[in-house]
Amino acid sequence: MKVSVIGAGNVGATCANVLAEKDFLKEVVLLDIKEGTAEGKALDMWETAPINFYSTKTVGVTNNYEATADSDVVVITSGLPRKPGMSRDDLISINAGIVKSVTENVIKYSPNAVIIVVSNPLDVMTYCAYLAAKVDSRKVFGMAGVLDTARYRAFLAEELNVSPKDIQAVLMGGHGDTMVPLPRYTTVAGIPVTELISKEKLDAIIERTKTGGGEIVNLLGTSAWYAPGAAAAQMAEAVLKDEQRIFPVAAWLTGEYGMNDIYLGVPVKLGKNGIEQIIELQLNTEEMAALNESATAVRSVCGVLDTMKLF
Ligand code: NAI
Ligand code: 2OP
Repeated sequence: MKVSVIGAGNVGATCANVLAEKDFLKEVVLLDIKEGTAEGKALDMWETAPINFYSTKTVGVTNNYEATADSDVVVITSGLPRKPGMSRDDLISINAGIVKSVTENVIKYSPNAVIIVVSNPLDVMTYCAYLAAKVDSRKVFGMAGVLDTARYRAFLAEELNVSPKDIQAVLMGGHGDTMVPLPRYTTVAGIPVTELISKEKLDAIIERTKTGGGEIVNLLGTSAWYAPGAAAAQMAEAVLKDEQRIFPVAAWLTGEYGMNDIYLGVPVKLGKNGIEQIIELQLNTEEMAALNESATAVRSVCGVLDTMKLF
């Protein structure tokens, strides 16, 4: 099995490294436009193989899409990250053109690949990749919910002094400050989280989760990469091993949750075909209102993409 990761920056390189260390792939190809970057990082990774004890070959290339041919999964991380003071949406003018051209190249050499988009603004860049790829929407989806849910789970684990392994949660909506963490669907080893934490503390954790990306940007001057890279790798693994795992994923909606023609974070089952099933939760009025508000925010950024007339 083969995965290509487009963009050998912070997130792309981390994703490639995590995948290689999982030791189930034959090859991970890292591609970037910056001469030498992907080659250097892939070589450095390969030199960890005897230490970290894996066999997956990491290969780096500069803009050579032939090397990505016949990938089973392609992860797209190419594009600018945000700087302090920027929102994810500010990145659209540059990243839309990058994601479009990258996707066209990817699909030319790997027409059957499942494509996982990471570039921001996530929901709209996933839509952009879908338009450029012209394949079944089940094969093009975005990584955001796995990261946002991981942040939520990590904060809860810290507050409750329990292992992050025991926290299960669902988080829906767009990858922005309108994302919708769902306490009603959050458990600690099967125990509803609301039985273990005060409303005040839970609300504070939800607020921190919504601005979790910005918290890291303010600390580092650029956006996060360890958790995003690991999240994309986990989704790729679920597809490649046909695991039927359930994750929140930016998926193309055709009537689910009463919405059409939008990429939005919803729980899905991932397997060898990509999105095997979109799971429709019975949201209450308040949860549905929050999801609608998030969809409105995503649609307004889609409107910016439309004005760019790339398609
Ligand atoms: P980075 O700047 O470290 O890496 C981006 C890489 O893309 C650079 O190496 C650059 O040379 C490359 N690139 C640019 N244009 C390219 C092209 N046409 N073809 C191939 N490579 C190209 O940025 P980082 O931190 O890796 O973030 C990447 C993207 O992922 C950003 O848009 C960021 O906002 C987004 N992101 C999304 C997250 C999510 O949850 N969906 C989480 C974290 C980052
Ligand atoms: C994050 O949430 C910036 O989308 C990126 O870390």
